Amino acid sequence: MPFPLQRPRRLRQTPAIRRLVSETELSVGHLILPLFVTHEKGRQEITSMPGQYRLSIPALIKEVEEAHQLGIPAVILFGIPRIKDEYGSGATDPNGIVQEAIRAVKDKTPEMLVITDICIDEYTSHGHCGLVKDGKIMNDDTLDVLSRMALTHVQAGADLVAPSDMMDGRVGAIRKALDANGYQEKPILSYAAKYASCFYAPFREAAQSSPQFGDRKSYQMDPANRREALREVMLDIEEGADMIMVKPALPYLDIISDIKRQFPLPLAAYQVSGEFSMIKAAVKLGYLDESRAMMETLIAIRRAGADMILTYFAKEAARLIRNV
Ligand code: PBG
Repeated sequence: MPFPLQRPRRLRQTPAIRRLVSETELSVGHLILPLFVTHEKGRQEITSMPGQYRLSIPALIKEVEEAHQLGIPAVILFGIPRIKDEYGSGATDPNGIVQEAIRAVKDKTPEMLVITDICIDEYTSHGHCGLVKDGKIMNDDTLDVLSRMALTHVQAGADLVAPSDMMDGRVGAIRKALDANGYQEKPILSYAAKYASCFYAPFREAAQSSPQFGDRKSYQMDPANRREALREVMLDIEEGADMIMVKPALPYLDIISDIKRQFPLPLAAYQVSGEFSMIKAAVKLGYLDESRAMMETLIAIRRAGADMILTYFAKEAARLIRNV
């Protein structure tokens, strides 16, 4: 039944009918706001991420309160410690920057879900996500540090931990450590398919976490690989992951779609720093409309199959959705 019987444009004539046939929804409840916390005072804007800041704990509390008022259900915290060392010691310090931040946030805004990133790259002097021996990233030695880091976070009150290091076996190791200490009910959101991407560059400026030698290709995934993402997800589920993440988002919509179709776990996608900054830069040059670029990319990520989206646009998107 081709044209003239079939006329798809009949259903695009008015805003009302377009709304009726709209297939994908983005609501504030789908958004997770990433935040950077530091020992420095006040807040410093991150040069390559306009409108994003490194926050002191009081500034963080204000930011979380604002996100809560907008209806955003969750934040994910990244810490920048005072000192970095070879072992990433700051990561497992019960009084470390993130541990302090968790306590402060849960004290002031207990309804806000606090997710924490489990990875030592912000804490190591070499900037790698694992312990280094003779220039090699040591997988199994790192598992213990990650488990202790996750444990101090939940002890401080974190609601969910999100390992982003890409060491093999880390979900299982963290699950075991949490269970052994009575935290059977704390969920793990695993960065299951995390690619070795150039789009993390602005984040690395924000967290001062660029690797000091080499790159992350021996642990993060090759952008060329699609089936391998399914293998990573399968393993993480076997090890006890409760939710799965794909990262970055926009260049990996096929991966989001594959995982959504094959696994029943809630699926998150991370619209990373470079995806955010790319839009900001184009807007600054007058090449793109910010609101439309933001909403179109977020809807695309939802359409591909993400249940929830980590995005630096969370507050702007929430304002737009709620018209405030
Ligand atoms: C690792 C981590 C990174 C990001 C989130 N967790 C950096 C990396 O892997 O180099 C990047 C997030 C972003 O670019 O917004 N702690």
